[in-house]
Amino acid sequence: MKRLGLVLLGLALLAGVLAQPGGRYQIGTPLTEQEVQRWNIRPSILPDGRGLPPGQGTVDEGERVYNAQCLGCHGANGQGGVFNRLVGEPFPVTKDVDSVDFVIGNYWQYPTTLFDYIRRAMPLQAPGTLSDNEVYALVAYLLYQNGVIDGSEPMNAQTLPKVQMPARAILELDPTTQKRFPWLRLP
Ligand code: HEC
Repeated sequence: MKRLGLVLLGLALLAGVLAQPGGRYQIGTPLTEQEVQRWNIRPSILPDGRGLPPGQGTVDEGERVYNAQCLGCHGANGQGGVFNRLVGEPFPVTKDVDSVDFVIGNYWQYPTTLFDYIRRAMPLQAPGTLSDNEVYALVAYLLYQNGVIDGSEPMNAQTLPKVQMPARAILELDPTTQKRFPWLRLP
């Protein structure tokens, strides 16, 4: 029976190959230089800011980009919609906070990760399409909405690493037990 299954699978695959236009899968099609550029995002950005590109963005600019490109999934003002809520109170999460309420202001420990993540992964349907200035602006807007920055300075490679994230505290040890907070479920 197993062998018959394999034969049928083979036939099905062959039929699939023959049904392709030109009879081929087109495996081996070279990427265009533009496609390579979109995905070849290096280096990763480190907590001390190494790897951040030139450029900058303000809260107001970020709001415009957010409303055009992010609101549909993350809701007005980052309050959550079809997908993750991004904005909440700027305090470190505690064991009473449900993980769906983990947001930038209470859970993200480094501001630079936000830049790396948005540039690399968002918007979900077209990652890699935002300019560095747009990413800086979105980071400024989201940090401002979370009450982490006052928005007076534009975000750039100098200002961003200096932002103190409220959730840095959750990386420290529990003062009584000297262990990581045991309730913290790291993803
Ligand atoms: C088509 C829907 C969609 C759009 C548009 C979109 N996102 Fe997302 N976003 C998601 C999904 C889904 C996740 C969760 C991904 C995961 O957990 O792997 C996510 C996760 C995130 C996170 C991480 C949330 C967390 O705390 O884990 C951030 C930050 C974020 N998006 C920012 C943005 C920004 C900024 C934009 C606009 C440029 C954007 N997203 C546009 C769907 C979207």
